[in-house]
Amino acid sequence: MRRPLIVGNWKMNTTLSDAVVLANSVKRAAEDLDSVEIVLCPPFVWLVPLAENLENAPKNLTLGAQNMWFADSGAMTGEISPIMIKDLVKYVILGHSERRSHFGESNALINDKIHAAFTHGLTPIVCVGELKKLQEEKRGRGRPNRTDTKSDVNHQLEEALKGVSKEKAEKIIVAYEPVWAIGTGHAATGGYAATVIEKLRQVFAKKYSKSLSERVRILYGGSVDSKNVQEFMYQPEIDGVLAGGSSLKAKEFIAVCREAAGRQ
Ligand code: 13P
Repeated sequence: MRRPLIVGNWKMNTTLSDAVVLANSVKRAAEDLDSVEIVLCPPFVWLVPLAENLENAPKNLTLGAQNMWFADSGAMTGEISPIMIKDLVKYVILGHSERRSHFGESNALINDKIHAAFTHGLTPIVCVGELKKLQEEKRGRGRPNRTDTKSDVNHQLEEALKGVSKEKAEKIIVAYEPVWAIGTGHAATGGYAATVIEKLRQVFAKKYSKSLSERVRILYGGSVDSKNVQEFMYQPEIDGVLAGGSSLKAKEFIAVCREAAGRQ
C-alpha cells in the first residue's frame, strides 16, 4: 500500500513571517490528516527556523529542500550542499523543470544529485516531464501532441536512475510535472497523467522488477488545487501531488491535503 504524499513547493516565495504562519497552519491541520504524508519545501533560508518550528509537529509533516548541489563542499558560490540540509529535511526536490530550463540542469547532473542525496540519507523527489510548452491550439486541459512527450519523459527517468541500486530506487519519489501544466491553470486530466505515470512505472519494471515498480510512489504536479486534486487521487496509478501556487495559501493547501486524505 503506497501512502499518499502531498508536497508543497513554495519556490521563490514567502517572507520569513509568511513562512512561519503558513507552516504553523499546516502543522495544526496535519494532526487529523495522518492518512497522508505532507512535505513542505520552503526556500533554503527558511529551513532552519521552520525545522525548529516543526520539531514537535505530527510525524506525517516534514520538510524538503527545493534543490541542492551534489558535492559536500567546495568553491560553488551560491550553492547549498547535502551536508548543509541533511539534518533539516527528509526530502529534496531534484530536476524540477524550472531548474532544467532556467539553470540548464542536465540529466547527468540530476543523476549526480540523486546519488548525493542517497549518500546523505535524503530522499529525492525527482521531477520529470515534457519540457516543451504546448502550441496555442493544444492548450487547455487534456493532452499534448503525443510525439513530443512520452519518450522525453521516460528518457529523463532512465537517465535519473543510472547507477541507482534496486534498494535505493525503491525509495525514490518521482513527480510527473509537464511544463505546459505548471503555473498555467491548465492541469493535465487525471486520466492523461495516469497514462504517463503508468509508462514511468514500466521504466522501473524493466530496469528493476515489476514488484518494485508497484511500490514506488509517483506524484502528479502542475496546476493542482483543492478543486481538481481528487481527480488525481482517484487514479490508482497516482500516489499524490506536487503543488506549487496552491501550496502558498494555508487554507487552500490544507484543503488539498484534506481532499487527498478523503476528509472533506
Ligand atoms: P503549480 O502548482 O503552481 O502549477 O506548480 C507546480 C510545480 O511546479 C510544483 O513543483
